[in-house]
Amino acid sequence: MAVRVGVLGATGAVGQRLIQLLEPHPAFEIAALTASESSAGKTYGQAAKWRVDSPIPEEIAEMTVTATDPDEVPDDVDLLFSSLPSSVGSAVEPAFCEDGYVVSSNSSNSRMADDVPLVIPEVNAEHLDLLEVQRDERGWDGALVKNPNCSTITFVPTLAALAEFGLERVHVATLQAVSGAGYDGVTSMEIIDNAIPYIGSEEDKLETESRKLLGEFDGASLTHDEVEVAASCNRIPTIDGHLENVWVETEDDLSVDDAADAMRAYPSLDLRSSPEQLIHVFDEPDRPQPRMDRTLGDGMAIAAGGLRESTFGLQYNCLAHNTIRGAAGASVLNGELLLENGYL
Ligand SMILES: NC(=O)c1ccc[n+]([C@@H]2O[C@H](COP(=O)([O-])OP(=O)(O)OC[C@H]3O[C@@H](n4cnc5c(N)ncnc54)[C@H](OP(=O)(O)O)[C@@H]3O)[C@@H](O)[C@H]2O)c1
Repeated sequence: MAVRVGVLGATGAVGQRLIQLLEPHPAFEIAALTASESSAGKTYGQAAKWRVDSPIPEEIAEMTVTATDPDEVPDDVDLLFSSLPSSVGSAVEPAFCEDGYVVSSNSSNSRMADDVPLVIPEVNAEHLDLLEVQRDERGWDGALVKNPNCSTITFVPTLAALAEFGLERVHVATLQAVSGAGYDGVTSMEIIDNAIPYIGSEEDKLETESRKLLGEFDGASLTHDEVEVAASCNRIPTIDGHLENVWVETEDDLSVDDAADAMRAYPSLDLRSSPEQLIHVFDEPDRPQPRMDRTLGDGMAIAAGGLRESTFGLQYNCLAHNTIRGAAGASVLNGELLLENGYL
């Protein structure tokens, strides 16, 4: 029987992607949609400015959106996918967990908390067991698991693939799509014919979340990896797909061929939303590109290319679909991992 799920922040850019991915999902059944007070009481079709690239499912359009409050969500819903602004998530996600709901969240609040697993299933699925520590410490029947920031998800799988060479220092510069800022994030007057070399708090997220993801969990606590990461983040006028330029310095010699082989061989998982090939490495020097490559593996693959040796170690480019692999698809994948590991 399908697990009954809800979407918190269902009307936004990530919430709409969540609905697009969850509606046909055989393991999940959408049973609750929440948003702000201004959407509560409307049908989903009235409340959402639907902008994703498939029609809004009819039965979803007719559902009533409720306020984001544990009392408004039916008790037989087990799993909530959260795509709330972090200021809202920080207040309400713990209230849902206290009430027994398991929450798989995109929002940045609590990502770096010691007892909150921050998970990319193909990279650190074992960190999920931090939930036992979380439940002991917080006395929750529910649980809170996070996926990282969309630009962190884009480059960390490539680092994980290169970890066997001993990661020392990483520099990353991002070219991020406008959908990453949400529907009200950047106005057309700001972004058309322009690039913005600042995204609030983003650089810190790449620098700290990557070390947590690559860290070691010993069953009781998590030690963050010691790799040094420096990030520079830019918003550019693409709709979807974050492109990143990466330089990696390693302890051991790392040739272009060894790096390409390690990325291609890095395993995917057999969860329903995992792509068959996690990292797709292009030989062409001008790939990956957002418009051409963001839907690889139904938007769940990472694309890499432009590998070359440089003064600062191995240099390459990578790309992922920010609202699928970097957000909605990432939390759905964490939902599948929770199910597989008996947390639902
Ligand atoms: N966009 C991305 O690529 C991306 C990637 C990774 C992570 N994230 C994170 O995911 C979260 C959502 O991002 P988004 O891009 O989807 O944002 P968004 O388009 O602005 O959507 C925000 C959602 O939250 C709801 N909301 C706003 N204020 C609320 C309140 N006070 N109480 C309850 N619900 C409220 C909105 O409902 P109304 O429609 O009623 O206002 C809407 O459903 C953010 O934390 C973001 O940082 C986004």
